[in-house]
Amino acid sequence: MIRVVCPGSFDPVTNGHLDIISRAAKLHDEVVVAVLRNPSKSSLFTADERVEILAEVTKGISNVKVAKFDGLIVDFCRANDISAIVKGLRAVSDFDYEMQMAQMNYNQAGVETLFMTTNPLYAFLSSSLVKEFARFGGDVAGLAPDPVLRRLTERLVAG
Ligand code: PNS
Repeated sequence: MIRVVCPGSFDPVTNGHLDIISRAAKLHDEVVVAVLRNPSKSSLFTADERVEILAEVTKGISNVKVAKFDGLIVDFCRANDISAIVKGLRAVSDFDYEMQMAQMNYNQAGVETLFMTTNPLYAFLSSSLVKEFARFGGDVAGLAPDPVLRRLTERLVAG
């Protein structure tokens, strides 16, 4: 049984993340989507809200599970019998840092990292840009799943 993890902040999950998660689920027995709970970084949605949204938008994919983690991703991998981290690479600009993290994680814990190329439809997409456009009235339909769009409106209107 090959269990992999897609880790991230997912604040909020975008259609680019979902594309990688669903493609990873076709290639592995189980995919754990691990939401980083980082109290030192301010986020629009709490870790519990991000988990709830991810559970809702992945409920149709039976081999995807959603969890929360803090600390090191390699410790989460060890504790959950996960052999590899799956990451999406959007552009060359992602490469340097992702490569550094992948090599550190392998060096420290022997955890592999598998890179998938992002669907070009989502190459420009990030959670930060979705939040910024939504905050200033931009149309982000098509960039994030419906539960995110709904909650973005509620959260940003509520201020
Ligand atoms: O969505 P993000 O914020 O780009 O995801 C980054 C994330 C959560 C995958 C990365 O920061 C991470 O793995 N953080 C956990 C802490 C850790 O293990 N740091 C060492 C990485 S070599």
